[in-house]
Amino acid sequence: MSIWGPRKPIELAPSHGAHALQRTLGWPHLMALGVGAIVGTGILTLTGVGAALAGPGVLLSFLIAGVVCAAAALAYAELATLIPQSGSAYTYSYVAIGETIAWIVGWSLILEYSVVCSTVAVGWSGYFTGFMDGIGWTIPKALATGPYEPGGVINLPAIGIIAVVAGLLLVGTRESATLNACLVAAKIAALALFVAVTLPAFKAANFHPFMPFGFFQHAGPDGVKQGVMAASSIIFFAFYGFDAVSTAAEEARDPGRDVTIGIVGSMLACVIIYVAVAACAIGAVPVAQFAQSAEPLALVLRTIGAFTTARIFGAVAVVALPTVILAFLFGQTRIFFVMARDRLLPARLGRVSPRSGVPVAVTIGTAVIVAGIAAFLPLAEIAALANAGTLCAFVAVGASMLILRRRAPDRARAFRAPLAPLVGFVAIAGCLYLFWNLPLGTQLRFFAWNAFGLLVYVAYARQRSVAG
Ligand code: ALA
Repeated sequence: MSIWGPRKPIELAPSHGAHALQRTLGWPHLMALGVGAIVGTGILTLTGVGAALAGPGVLLSFLIAGVVCAAAALAYAELATLIPQSGSAYTYSYVAIGETIAWIVGWSLILEYSVVCSTVAVGWSGYFTGFMDGIGWTIPKALATGPYEPGGVINLPAIGIIAVVAGLLLVGTRESATLNACLVAAKIAALALFVAVTLPAFKAANFHPFMPFGFFQHAGPDGVKQGVMAASSIIFFAFYGFDAVSTAAEEARDPGRDVTIGIVGSMLACVIIYVAVAACAIGAVPVAQFAQSAEPLALVLRTIGAFTTARIFGAVAVVALPTVILAFLFGQTRIFFVMARDRLLPARLGRVSPRSGVPVAVTIGTAVIVAGIAAFLPLAEIAALANAGTLCAFVAVGASMLILRRRAPDRARAFRAPLAPLVGFVAIAGCLYLFWNLPLGTQLRFFAWNAFGLLVYVAYARQRSVAG
């Protein structure tokens, strides 16, 4: 027991019966799950949003967010092997800090995982609409964007893609993870193609002025925060997803080895890919020309005359972006599963189907809610909200790693983060600073969500908790 309520032991109580998950995933599946979850709307669409806030300096935004995420990834990898249980940051803070903080983290993860699915579905819809337009099937604007844009009513493609992905998950983890691996390969190939085609058009002049809106965030003319750091707090979206790997720890065949390779490997691969893609996009076309686009990378390709590549790129985005939704919808169901197993949420949310090993009711319920959000809300706003939830979880993970180094220094860890004090500090301070740079409205919505969460905790969860 701590001032933050009861703590869970590091050892996992053996799962059984309707609450057991099957160990079917090896490291290639987990690394594919990681890259599949990381490379998505962040690089494909938010590169434009970030460029609008920071100019070519968005490259620095990518680097800063990448360093903070790399520190968090190292802490995650250590904790995922020390505590090989499902539940990710929620479980780690339950073990390291106490139930109240674990609840706040779990509640924030519910927000993160749902809103990421919605964000990516809206990003996908932009590429899908552009792709259909290119083959002569124009989708009316009223049906392809929410009411936040003039003429928009509902984002039907976004709803459709969430329904398809939820259906895939219901077929079973193993099958969908294998399909995911194929789609991830296509996504990486498309980004490599993007770099190869845009590199010959590279002009150093496009990088001047490098930071037209400055480095530190400040309010622009319409009150919107801008500058390299403001962009970094949005671009942060592009880097996470490796945490979804840790939610699958109970389904890994060899958690110590497989989860470490999955998290660290996928994170490193993505840092390299992103910096290359962002630099090539800016080098090929002045930032102002693609900053507002719903499909900025395809627009860059069209602008330099690479029409066929743009079409291929759009097609791959349409086919492969759903891997991100898949990974986060998967992660979301596992967070519910673990919180229900701990009795902080109703037990029926933790029930898995004996046939497929999938929590059916939770998958369908989550899909309905995230589709509702995607149908009506704008991309940048929901991405920022997802970031708020994630930043909160990353702070808790950095803190949990440092606390457990003190409390259980000699316990076997299949992976130990190098320079742990520095890594922990960068993860905690970096995430707090990025949170501070988020739009004010986002910060308020995040606090409101957690205030509501704490009410649920006091009124419902605290009395029922297994640990309590
Ligand atoms: N990193 C994921 C994306 O960019 C969430 O889509």
